[in-house]
Amino acid sequence: MAHAIVIHEQGGPEVMRFEEIAVGAAGPGEVRLRQTVVGLNYIDVYQRSGGYKLDLPASIGMEAAGVVEAVGEGVETVKVGDRVGYVMGTPGAYAEERIYPAERLIPLPDDISDEQAAGSMLKGLTVSYLVRRTFPVQAGQTVLLHAAAGGVGTIACQWLKKIGATVIGTVGSDEKAEIARAHGCDHPIVYTRDDFQARVMEITGGEGVPVVYDGVGAAVYEGSLGSLARFGTMVHFGAASGPAPAVEPKLLAGKALYFTRPGLAPHTATRELTLDIANALFDKIREGVKIEINQTYALKDAAEAHRALEARETTGSTILTV
Ligand SMILES: NC(=O)c1ccc[n+]([C@@H]2O[C@H](COP(=O)([O-])OP(=O)(O)OC[C@H]3O[C@@H](n4cnc5c(N)ncnc54)[C@H](OP(=O)(O)O)[C@@H]3O)[C@@H](O)[C@H]2O)c1
Repeated sequence: MAHAIVIHEQGGPEVMRFEEIAVGAAGPGEVRLRQTVVGLNYIDVYQRSGGYKLDLPASIGMEAAGVVEAVGEGVETVKVGDRVGYVMGTPGAYAEERIYPAERLIPLPDDISDEQAAGSMLKGLTVSYLVRRTFPVQAGQTVLLHAAAGGVGTIACQWLKKIGATVIGTVGSDEKAEIARAHGCDHPIVYTRDDFQARVMEITGGEGVPVVYDGVGAAVYEGSLGSLARFGTMVHFGAASGPAPAVEPKLLAGKALYFTRPGLAPHTATRELTLDIANALFDKIREGVKIEINQTYALKDAAEAHRALEARETTGSTILTV
């Protein structure tokens, strides 16, 4: 019998229970997966806590790596025994086995391990679309990136450096500043102590930056808008500190700013869109971008992993082993 983390109510980490589940057979267009490694992401916290509403009982989680165990009728893109990863779709990655749509699977190249895949599908594909599609960063530009020592943050710092950008990154402690610096962040700012907007203006000679990548939300909202240069783009892609306020159009007028709230769901809505950002990520890993797996927990201990993530104790990626 397979097991999964199941929630019967939304709330604190304690609502997650490791239970036996009935997986069932793969239907048309589906595969049955034996998962090896699950990736932990901040979206899992929103799913568990009620930030995103789920039909209960439910399993949570949005990325994993594993092996195809069985294929349903009409599946042509993968076969039994293939190593695959996936991101998004219906929540339910916190499981030993699951049914999943074949169309959404990402075949894993031999040189990408299951750990690397589960540690980077969601975070790395996010960076892939953020810096290539949402605001295509050019060599020589200076960008502001919040939570630069985190999962998305450490991958983004490295990727932005490879493009040739100068990276200003905010972090919650001096230790995290060192981690961000080690991954290519040119100017780490401890925003829990220093005024990051003032520092950005100092570093950019009063100009501001053309883009802010913000996965932190409420706590940095005003300072982020204030850090932008004329015609700059605010990329608000997450809310680890709580939801940002509603956008007041007048606030954008003074510098003719752009505001966008992108998500991975539309960026993985088709196989073509998904494989484009996945292949770009695999190429960057081959060019030297490291997926830093700094925390590993057993799947059954997912509650501990959530506590650490919410307490800002994690850096880089966190995986749950099956
Ligand atoms: N839209 C998308 O497509 C998409 C995709 C992936 C992720 N995201 C978002 O990107 C953000 C980062 O995701 P991640 O999984 O890589 O997480 P993470 O960055 O590894 O962890 C979250 C970090 O946010 C910072 N933070 C600031 N204030 C916080 C607070 N009050 N509580 C908790 N953390 C706080 C902490 O870093 P410091 O201590 O350094 O401040 C913490 O380590 C999340 O908001 C996530 O939802 C969005």
